[in-house]
Amino acid sequence: MSSVKVMLVVSLFILAVKPNSGLLKVECLPAVGILAQTTVIRCVFKNKDIHILGVYLTKTGQNKPFFSQVGSESSGDPRFSLENLAVGPSLQISDTMFSDEGKYEYRVVTDSGFKEIQLSISVRAKYKDPVTSTWPKNVTDGGPASLYCNATDGYPEGFIHWFDRSGTNWTINSELTKVPKNISGVKSVALSSKLTFKSINLGLAPFRCIVFNSKYVQDGENTLKITSAISDVNKDSSRSNATNIVAGVMVIGSLIVGLLFALLCFKKRNAHHGRRPSAHPILSYETGRADEDDVENGDSSPEKLQ
Ligand SMILES: *[C@@H]1O[C@H](CO)[C@@H](O)[C@H](O)[C@H]1NC(C)=O
Ligand SMILES: *[C@@H]1O[C@H](CO)[C@@H](O)[C@H](O)[C@H]1NC(C)=O
Ligand SMILES: *[C@@H]1O[C@H](CO)[C@@H](O)[C@H](O)[C@H]1NC(C)=O
Ligand SMILES: *[C@@H]1O[C@H](CO)[C@@H](O)[C@H](O)[C@H]1NC(C)=O
Repeated sequence: MSSVKVMLVVSLFILAVKPNSGLLKVECLPAVGILAQTTVIRCVFKNKDIHILGVYLTKTGQNKPFFSQVGSESSGDPRFSLENLAVGPSLQISDTMFSDEGKYEYRVVTDSGFKEIQLSISVRAKYKDPVTSTWPKNVTDGGPASLYCNATDGYPEGFIHWFDRSGTNWTINSELTKVPKNISGVKSVALSSKLTFKSINLGLAPFRCIVFNSKYVQDGENTLKITSAISDVNKDSSRSNATNIVAGVMVIGSLIVGLLFALLCFKKRNAHHGRRPSAHPILSYETGRADEDDVENGDSSPEKLQ
């Protein structure tokens, strides 16, 4: 029985090697598979009315076919099959694995000759939705802070970008750490992006991080929940955001009230003591600035007043 089949195959090969067999044209597109998903390697005949008699897929450097199909009988890896035979010898791989990566020789036997095609398969893995954290756990507005965005299980190495509430790109201030892993042949790169602020402005929150794969296609994103050290009454992040805004409005409001009050005092004092040297308004400007500035910029040098 099986010797009959071998005979048949051999005779098919002999039949196939016709003088004009060089005219058979097959084109296969490069294939990138996604781990655990179905990958299709599209191949099309450039000639009309071609009938496939058999295909043999062999990993480069090996002798035994990895997958083969003669007529309707297939053997080898059961995850492989032929697809859409009418247009060409396209291959389909279900449950794609990293071990499928590599170069292959693909022999296609038809009623109009045979062709050997070099195939190359690469496999990608999608990054999981990123997890976020902050240092310190409770962030103080105006204080130092590091925001983390970590994504795992993707391959090859991707990118993490940062944006604030208004969509401003903060990526340039971040640092991306990549840790390659290979757990019994399952490859991945753990990404960790750290966005550091010497003095964070919580008015820019919420911050968002976006994970891209190696081809800059978005794989996932997350919005950071920042726990403010001042208004930590509410555990619910959206409500604590609201209280942050309210707190901000209150701080700005009290500053304005204070400023108005100071101005009022000045006017009253001016009214009492008559005209003052013009240095005084500048002095009041100076104290006003010192409140807003960082400690490093707190010294009011003469150049600053110009
Ligand atoms: C992200 O990775 C950094 C660095 O490895 C780590 O300090 C941080 O705790 C991680 N955050 C989360 C949420 O896993
Ligand atoms: C954000 O900035 C990074 C690094 O500077 C850049 O590569 C990226 O294209 C920017 N993204 C957008 C949407 O502007
Ligand atoms: C990953 O590990 C497998 C065996 O566990 C090994 O065959 C393969 O070469 C490794 N790949 C890399 C890129 O180190
Ligand atoms: C952070 O705030 C929570 C309340 O929201 C508090 O229970 C916790 O002790 C604080 N942690 C630190 C490190 O200050």
